[in-house]
Amino acid sequence: MAVIAQKCPEINVTVVDINEKRIAAWNDENVENIPIYEPGLSAVVAEARDRNLFFSTDVDAAIDKADMIFISVNTPTKTYGIGKGMAADLKYIELCARQIARVAKDDKIVIEKSTLPVRTAEALKSILDNTGNGVKFQILSNPEFLAEGTAVEDLLDPDRVLIGGDIDTTEGMDAVQALVDVYAHWVPKDQILTTNVWSSELSKLTANAFLAQRVSSINSLSELCEKTGADVNEVSRAIGMDSRIGSKFLKSSVGFGGSCFQKDILNLVYIAKSFGLNEVADYWEQVIIMNDHQKKRFAENIVKTLFNTVSGKKIAFLGWAFKKDTNDTRESAAIYVADYLLNEQAEIVIYDPKVTEEQIYADLDYLGTRSEEENRKLVKVVNTPVNATEGAHAVAVLTEWDEFKELDWNEIYKKMLKPAFLFDGRKILDRKSKEAIGFQFYSIGN
Ligand code: UGA
Repeated sequence: MAVIAQKCPEINVTVVDINEKRIAAWNDENVENIPIYEPGLSAVVAEARDRNLFFSTDVDAAIDKADMIFISVNTPTKTYGIGKGMAADLKYIELCARQIARVAKDDKIVIEKSTLPVRTAEALKSILDNTGNGVKFQILSNPEFLAEGTAVEDLLDPDRVLIGGDIDTTEGMDAVQALVDVYAHWVPKDQILTTNVWSSELSKLTANAFLAQRVSSINSLSELCEKTGADVNEVSRAIGMDSRIGSKFLKSSVGFGGSCFQKDILNLVYIAKSFGLNEVADYWEQVIIMNDHQKKRFAENIVKTLFNTVSGKKIAFLGWAFKKDTNDTRESAAIYVADYLLNEQAEIVIYDPKVTEEQIYADLDYLGTRSEEENRKLVKVVNTPVNATEGAHAVAVLTEWDEFKELDWNEIYKKMLKPAFLFDGRKILDRKSKEAIGFQFYSIGN
């Protein structure tokens, strides 16, 4: 929304949320205090805020005034009832639809921005069309393809923008065109695709499933590399130069995280199952199974290497975010590796340049594996890598922050217990130089 406001100064954009603390943070005088860390975002907000970009908790007023409403609420995996652990929980979407239906007094275009299961637009339409106040709604699907850490860049220069609508009717086409006109302020027209709503909804799930599948594919081979002496980075490079395969998204890791991949694939699996397409469901579920395996085997390897016990041993974690250049930790591999090691009674000291102590404890508490007191007793969060690694038995790199490559590894080694173990879950450190220092070095995929 900030980028739309920046690029379309004549359009008023109001972002509303019922969370007062969040909205206050978006309105903070110091634009560096906005609640999301994302390179370049504060500058965009600074340019547009209070010009044509507004943040407010007055949801009804914003609905009333708007011609277009983007629904961008959470659609987490259901934690209860039918489809528990797989289906998307649409309760927030439905609440939005009901509020829009209650408040709207004139015709509006309602846009699904959240990632949704195929045919959700139908449910939205049925709620909106049955308000009884004669207002007409057009529903569009406009999934977002930006990745965190490069969000602003991706929005300014997207590979494509996808808009799904009721393209068989004139009213539907007009609504699609209205949204095309917004993006056309800065996106070349031939990169703005229009489809029917269902294709658009399914394309979003498919894109994430394909991306995650690439990571699981290369991660599955990282294990084979470790057994055979092949180097997974070399394999990635060799296959990526085949233009049919392409070089992106072939970086082996301790496992993909983030709020979307797992949720969207589980959702795809659930939809396939609900149509009785069991082979399709099993095919995609394997991407998740492999990802869980990758996280688990990284943790298991730490225990095994540390002479089969980490009980009472200090293990330093470098990184907690699910990838670099973001403070987002949702589904981060670090959480699951930590949980596994804590079950083995390890003591973990964490350093991440952008993630707060509060967030780390919240992530561990959310798992419900142990009490809040135990989490605080076993896990410490510190402000520098040196504080994390001092006196540690092992260091594990969980996020590929650039600064970890530049650390003074000689100093770190000196202050660790010996033998000093280093586990590189992101394959960002150079093996030779670390072994020359004296580290017992393990890296994903060799
Ligand atoms: C992902 C998609 O890339 C976006 O296109 C999509 O819009 C977004 O989900 C979404 O649906 O909201 P994001 O989760 O922000 O974006 O970040 P990614 O760059 O895709 O990384 C996801 C995870 O995969 C991270 O944990 C990352 O470290 C891991 N990854 C990525 C690898 O392990 N190896 C790779 O080669 C690439």
